[in-house]
Amino acid sequence: MRVYHDQDADMNLLAGRRIGVIGYGNQGRAQALNLRDSGLEVIVGNQEDEYAQQARADGFTVLPLAQAAAQADILLLLIPDEVMPQVFEQEIAPHLSGKVLAFASGYNVAFGFITPPPDVDVVLVAPRMIGAGVRDLYLAGCGFPSFIGVAQDVSGRAKEIALALARGIGSTRAGVVEVTFAQEAELDLFTEQCFGPAFGHVLTTAVDLLLEEGYPPEAVLLELYMSGELSYTLGKIAELGMVEQGALHSRTSQYGSMSRGMRFLLPELRARMRQGLEEIRSGQFAREWAAEQAAGCPTLAALKEAARSLPLYELERELRQALGSVPTYRPAPAARGASLPAVSTGRRWAWLRRLWPRRSRAPDSAALGAAQMETVLRRFLARAAGDPALRAFSRGRQLTTHYVLKDVGLEFTMRFQDGSVAAGLGPPDGPAEVRLETTGEVLDGMFTGRINALRAAMSGQLSFSGEARLAMSVQQVQDDLCRLYRAAREETLA
Ligand code: NAI
Repeated sequence: MRVYHDQDADMNLLAGRRIGVIGYGNQGRAQALNLRDSGLEVIVGNQEDEYAQQARADGFTVLPLAQAAAQADILLLLIPDEVMPQVFEQEIAPHLSGKVLAFASGYNVAFGFITPPPDVDVVLVAPRMIGAGVRDLYLAGCGFPSFIGVAQDVSGRAKEIALALARGIGSTRAGVVEVTFAQEAELDLFTEQCFGPAFGHVLTTAVDLLLEEGYPPEAVLLELYMSGELSYTLGKIAELGMVEQGALHSRTSQYGSMSRGMRFLLPELRARMRQGLEEIRSGQFAREWAAEQAAGCPTLAALKEAARSLPLYELERELRQALGSVPTYRPAPAARGASLPAVSTGRRWAWLRRLWPRRSRAPDSAALGAAQMETVLRRFLARAAGDPALRAFSRGRQLTTHYVLKDVGLEFTMRFQDGSVAAGLGPPDGPAEVRLETTGEVLDGMFTGRINALRAAMSGQLSFSGEARLAMSVQQVQDDLCRLYRAAREETLA
């Protein structure tokens, strides 16, 4: 295990070399200020916007991007990864010969969106810290960890330069680890796409269950994460390790969590994480995200809207308001002993009725039996196959959706291909691009307009595998599917 510290990095290597910080946002501002405070010469390259004004206000010389690239010897590309390839091609690449090109993320190089010219050193200095922390922890004197890496070593000193830059931004004070560009990008995406969401869904599942069981919402949210105890404990896990931090909790807590923890070792979770990692490594995610951006990010907008429509979003907002601020851990006793503002029982239940309708355990009065469901689906699929709106949606598409209704033991498939729609009961002949698994009751609710499909997915009543963009594209014909389903349902119940 190798971790680099101050003594492993020589900032003299950077003496007399002008550092051009391209972009003055989260990372750009923090890194430019730290490098300057470390005694290095820094100029800023930025388009004319409020970030450029901020850089000037902070006392930097600010130049247009191409001019900064021409005047600097070492270039730190600190603009959003999404815009970087185009900016790089037009403004940076023509001025690079013989220089050092540094990235704070391996993404564009690892997935082939940027190919640097062969005569430059290409290094990675990627803080494991948000921009505000990069600056605050530099000023506090403790620094923050970073990954460094080398993609091209023309000078023979690329790694030393990366270490010197890491020292300049204050990272070797905390510790620096060497990785490849691909490893940095893959680990970063894995955290965002697998670990983060899995962790998030553990939280939302717990909230959902406890509210369903009638616990007061403000107590549930405070207990699980809004007290700040969870974030404090995560800090202690980083400091002391998973096992030893246990000593900070009661023995009841230690015994309970260790003896009951085994039941959450779910093979399915590991399999889903592996699937996510494979999508990342194969470049499938990078290609999908590039296509989504080219289309103007409609799926991202729909997913954000769906997340905001979840009851939890509103509950959190109301609790934040009731508390006055989100409690963050402060060692001062006042913060620990602060009493919560009273929330009346009446108001509490008004919240719940409005935002979190109790799920009934008894079957919905309108629920269909398995045999009725089969008849409805048969009629629905026959209508779908001949429907002009679905045929229009199908033009230029190749999309197979496979629905599995476990509780009623039914499956059906809809295939949209080049203007035609094939729909029938049973699984598809080959692999489906999108597979949805839910219950007959939820599907019936979705197609009769009682249940929002996105909300059902986000609250765990519906799971899908496949590409999110393709699954979301079916939303375009959701109204038509509902129209056809309702007609089939009415005919069956008549
Ligand atoms: P940001 O979103 O804060 O970048 C804003 C800057 O980009 C501004 O200076 C703005 O003028 C410039 N910019 C935006 N659009 C532009 C365009 N079309 N053409 C030219 N300039 C444009 O970026 P952030 O978050 O600082 O990320 C920069 C790099 O740092 C990325 O590679 C990112 O992956 C990496 N990184 C970011 C971290 C973070 O905490 N945000 C953490 C570690 C790495």
